[in-house]
Amino acid sequence: MSTIIKNGTIVTADLTYKADVKIEGGKIVEIGQNLSGGKELDATGCYVMPGGIDPHTHLEMPFMGTYSADDFESGTRAGLAGGTTMVVDFALPSPGQSLVDALGMWHNKTSRATADFSFHMAVTWWGEQVFNDMATIVNEKGINSFKHFMAYKGALMVDDDEMFSSFQRVGELGALAMVHAENGDVVAQMQAKLLAEGNNGPEAHAYSRPAEVEGEATNRAIMIADMAGVPLYVVHTSCEQAHEAIRRARAKGMRVYGEPLIQHLTLDESEYSNPDWDHAARRVMSPPFRNKTHQDSLWAGLSSGSLQVVATDHCAFTSEQKRFGIGDFTKIPNGTGGLEDRMPMLWTHGVNTGRITMNEFVAVTSTNIAKILNMYPKKGAILVGADADIVVWDPAKKKTISAASQQSSIDYNVFEGKEVTGLPRFTLTRGHLAINDGKVDTREGHGEFVKRPPVTPANKALSTWKEITAPRKVQRTGIPATGV
Ligand code: URP
Ligand code: ZN
Ligand code: ZN
Ligand code: ZN
Repeated sequence: MSTIIKNGTIVTADLTYKADVKIEGGKIVEIGQNLSGGKELDATGCYVMPGGIDPHTHLEMPFMGTYSADDFESGTRAGLAGGTTMVVDFALPSPGQSLVDALGMWHNKTSRATADFSFHMAVTWWGEQVFNDMATIVNEKGINSFKHFMAYKGALMVDDDEMFSSFQRVGELGALAMVHAENGDVVAQMQAKLLAEGNNGPEAHAYSRPAEVEGEATNRAIMIADMAGVPLYVVHTSCEQAHEAIRRARAKGMRVYGEPLIQHLTLDESEYSNPDWDHAARRVMSPPFRNKTHQDSLWAGLSSGSLQVVATDHCAFTSEQKRFGIGDFTKIPNGTGGLEDRMPMLWTHGVNTGRITMNEFVAVTSTNIAKILNMYPKKGAILVGADADIVVWDPAKKKTISAASQQSSIDYNVFEGKEVTGLPRFTLTRGHLAINDGKVDTREGHGEFVKRPPVTPANKALSTWKEITAPRKVQRTGIPATGV
């Protein structure tokens, strides 16, 4: 059975044109004028775009004494409702646990996924087993990216020598190094000091992790990646200091990518001053929300190309879970939701305001991500042969974001009350019509794991350049005699 998306305007990262799209067997099989012979979806007045890819989620993640509340079912359903057809989640080994075992545990969470998914592997400790497992993860398990936490001291954090060892291994394997960039040692001491001074509310979370703390770690990660000769992806870039570091590195020819979150682009630090404890605690995440100067910097990064992708870091906790931290902000589970809201919020505050173009919107929500993570053009493209992960975007459709009508399983939404203009009319996941004008028809278990091979063009270019410019012993014509 074929499906034909008719009368729409195709918008990709580099082109805008009118054409119909024919889908069979979960793939795009034809793009052209006046296509017929199948079930028709009317895209009049709409843009036909590659489905969103969220490169950063934490579904059913064990963290800070609990589990994030959205699992692979509700998380992917929320994504589809907002036009996102794929998520990339993080497999997190416990200290001493093999990476392969951890990956098995994460695969076990995915049986009810309603859209496709992939994983990044985290390196949370260092040893010979990790070194060896990394090759298995890349060469047999279809994962080409390794995340390192420079914060969460005593839990997920690795130090510089562990990170440098790991980055070198990542480089050898032709993979991508990723970092959560905050100086975890400084954060830990700031948290203790604030608590000792009686500063125990959610606002102190933000006081304990200022922008400089993120900027320093971003610079350090960039230096270590450069020494190791590996491309670097900085997750949740939230401030000018971190953006500046990325911008400078890129201007020097380094392969560094930056990922602002929709939350940091559209919500600011004033949320933490709200007199309602729940309101503030629900917005506790790392890095914290910043001020307008930082937000303007992130928007400028998206339009100028110094920042490449927009994610959510979807890591949703209920109000009850957030209340673990009453009286001690360091116990508030860190994380916010956003999977359903990323695309409508970015369209509303980015495209509708003229900060980014429609084509840039597609690039930062889908195509750039597929390219950086090496799954293009299977994902991130409207091309014959690509997976039919498609969002038919109605730029006139409006709603007011509300927890009462969201797909996520939590009891609030950090974007509550925000009006958005620009929403999916249809979302298709490998050809299956999961969202039909607001009606949800997701299929549990439809989602498949997407393998991502190593050695991207960026890896090849960087390793070639690093080999050409490597330190070499000077061949001398004569060595002076000693002791004369
Ligand atoms: O606060 C956050 N971001 N929670 C999720 C874990 C992480 O640091 O990405
Ligand atoms: Zn060490
Ligand atoms: Zn993080
Ligand atoms: Zn995260």
